[in-house]
Amino acid sequence: MSAQGVQRRLNLGDLTTKKNAGEPIVMVTAYDYPSAQIVEAAGVDIVLVGDSAAMTVLGYDSTVPVTVDEMLTLTKAVRRGLGRPLLVGDLPFGSYEISDEQAVITAQRFVKEAGCDLVKIERGGTSVDRARALVAAGIPVVGHVGLTPQTAVSLGGYRAQGRTVETALALRDDALALQDAGCAMLVIEAVPREVTELIMPLMRIPVIGIGAGPATDGQVLVFHDLLGIYDGPAARFVKRYANVREASVAGVAEYAREVREREYPAPEHEYAMPDAEAQRLSGINPG
Ligand code: KIV
Repeated sequence: MSAQGVQRRLNLGDLTTKKNAGEPIVMVTAYDYPSAQIVEAAGVDIVLVGDSAAMTVLGYDSTVPVTVDEMLTLTKAVRRGLGRPLLVGDLPFGSYEISDEQAVITAQRFVKEAGCDLVKIERGGTSVDRARALVAAGIPVVGHVGLTPQTAVSLGGYRAQGRTVETALALRDDALALQDAGCAMLVIEAVPREVTELIMPLMRIPVIGIGAGPATDGQVLVFHDLLGIYDGPAARFVKRYANVREASVAGVAEYAREVREREYPAPEHEYAMPDAEAQRLSGINPG
């Protein structure tokens, strides 16, 4: 707490301090003002407005179609609800791959218009060059390796990565290249714990895992996954900490029942009119 009793916003140095102290870093996604307020109140360290929003809140069937403008609308709403945690914006598919210039132009919008502290890009390869260009432009970058949903089709679908020695070593090389390019942080998604354990001793930057086992410096989960906001199957690494969908359906169903049975609204939900005015009004012919 500061002298005024307001918690200051975390910075990258705080993450390094946590890493060095072996204190786990908590990251979660959020996509709008109320979810930002919830994760803020819960005391998380980092909030990612992930392009998983494409599926969780916009109803697309993958992360590929979501646009920069859609992501910016969601990210700005999260910014308005957030105080202490670091805010990471996710550059959507097609918004950074073409050139360093394209990546910098897109990332600057997330920083200037949506107030992001960092931006996240997926994959190694050409994304290493993009990361270097962004860092040179003064924009802190989060790399993302392993299962990279934007290119899931080329990876053979939404499945664990690095399950052979060759692919595990390629993953390690991508992680190192992103670190060398100046990334401030790395996300590793859906890899066997052996791969994470191979990579971790080489990493000076904080590494956040999702389906990567316990060896990382922190964990990230998708808000809708961990709260059980939708029906249906989830990835193996998802743990549900609440069943918000069930509670929400029950709440709306009860509202519908009360409306249909004329239980709602009750007198306590009505506005009062002074008696004298009500008396005068009752004497007026409605026609
Ligand atoms: O888009 C997203 O939510 C992500 C996390 C799963 C890391 O990239």
